[in-house]
Amino acid sequence: MPTSPPSSTVPPLAPRLSSAWRDFLADRELPAALVGGLGSPLNLVMPDQLVRNAEAFAAVHRWLRLRGALYFAHKANRSTALVRRIAATGFGVDVASVGELQHALGAGVPGARIMATGPKGEDFLWLSGAVGAVVNADSVDELERLGTLIRRHRLPPVRVMIRLSGFAPVGVAVLSRPSRFGVPVDQLDGALESLDRYRRELVLHGLAFHLDTTGLEEKALAVEGCLLAMAQCQARGHAPAAIDIGGGFGVAYLDQPEQWHSYARALNDSVLGRRTPITWAGYGYGLKAERGAVRGTLGVYPSHRDKAGPAYLEALLEHHGPRLRRPLSTVLLESLVELHVEPGRALLDQVGLTLVSVREVRDGPDGSLLVGLDANRHDVSAEEHGVLVDPLLLPAGGVRTGQPVSAYLLGNLCLENDLITRRAVHLPAPPRPGDLLAFANTGGYFMDFAATDALMQHRAATVAVRAAGSGWRWCLDADYWPTEGEEQ
Ligand SMILES: Cc1ncc(COP(=O)(O)O)c(C=O)c1O
Repeated sequence: MPTSPPSSTVPPLAPRLSSAWRDFLADRELPAALVGGLGSPLNLVMPDQLVRNAEAFAAVHRWLRLRGALYFAHKANRSTALVRRIAATGFGVDVASVGELQHALGAGVPGARIMATGPKGEDFLWLSGAVGAVVNADSVDELERLGTLIRRHRLPPVRVMIRLSGFAPVGVAVLSRPSRFGVPVDQLDGALESLDRYRRELVLHGLAFHLDTTGLEEKALAVEGCLLAMAQCQARGHAPAAIDIGGGFGVAYLDQPEQWHSYARALNDSVLGRRTPITWAGYGYGLKAERGAVRGTLGVYPSHRDKAGPAYLEALLEHHGPRLRRPLSTVLLESLVELHVEPGRALLDQVGLTLVSVREVRDGPDGSLLVGLDANRHDVSAEEHGVLVDPLLLPAGGVRTGQPVSAYLLGNLCLENDLITRRAVHLPAPPRPGDLLAFANTGGYFMDFAATDALMQHRAATVAVRAAGSGWRWCLDADYWPTEGEEQ
């Protein structure tokens, strides 16, 4: 057990946590019993929350009187329960591989409610065409291969969207980054020529983009770019109905935004050597000290977002396009264009949580603790996605008194760099072997996107949970069906 008390602790970054998860974690027995039975790490999902989130997105469409569809970006989570739950609603699924497509079909999502995105091989193209999914084409080559395949196999016509990129900036204020995906907007004619060659096989359903950015201006530029390009399609005899603005609506991970600012100050001081270090081996998340000043850019996710999820979508649609200078929602409404969205991370807000058991606790550098976990950095990959937030401590046996500590979380791979976080996290009291750590809001990308079988370590099971009366019901992910909890 550690001997020396910490000299100075890292400022906290408390996670935002729904009341449902708070209630679940307050259960004295269930979290520990589940990890005891199914092992650490253990992923938990609440399928009903996914539907509540989807409905909140749909409410934005209703509020702005827009028509269109929502596709859950499956890539953000592998859970079968979540896809089955979505199948039982009118919402769609965005699949980015033939495996995800088969998974969605097997979960009961009709082909017509599926959008196939990402790079595609012939298997993915064929199955998408065969089941009547919309194919969101990434390149002219993909359109050509799809057209050839549909013709050769005499399949019914397929609805396609053309993914665009490289929207020309207006003035100097709006950034537009290059992308490896999509047809450059100034080469749209080439894609339309391809559609002309396959008039029977391919029907233009609309134009699309997905931008991996939080920047509202950049997205507004792309929405407007698609709207303007619709006219180009119409002039060539096509009748596109929709634009698909992809995902990227974001999640607010922190409970108290002001903690972010204190943390950022402490990180600056740590980089400059003006306080007890708060990161492993002087890691600076993109910042470094140069002649007494901090240089570089903090390369992390803005965990304290003011507007995220449906609120971000609403803000984007109320934003004025840089050329037309009117709210995007008004332009969409007047042009009778449908708006498709493909949220992943934002739809999974407060849907998932990961429990991990503490294996060992030792003294670490600068008064911190080294906490060895039964999980590795691929099992809880928030850090890889730039999200900095503390885990919650669930002491074995309930209560733990003591002073807050700074702790480095060590993974179970015998690799020097297997740290769950390269920064010390804040814990309210010293953990002990047998305690659990709960990592909040891991549903979107952090629980299984990067999980591997490295070293043949236990890979997390996933469990679906739901509130039932004053308690909880749970089942293995694969055993969940949307009829769960319905009266016979
Ligand atoms: C085409 C496409 N749509 C939707 C998404 C989902 O993005 P997010 O999870 O940020 O909402 C992605 C993510 O990579 C994507 O590539």
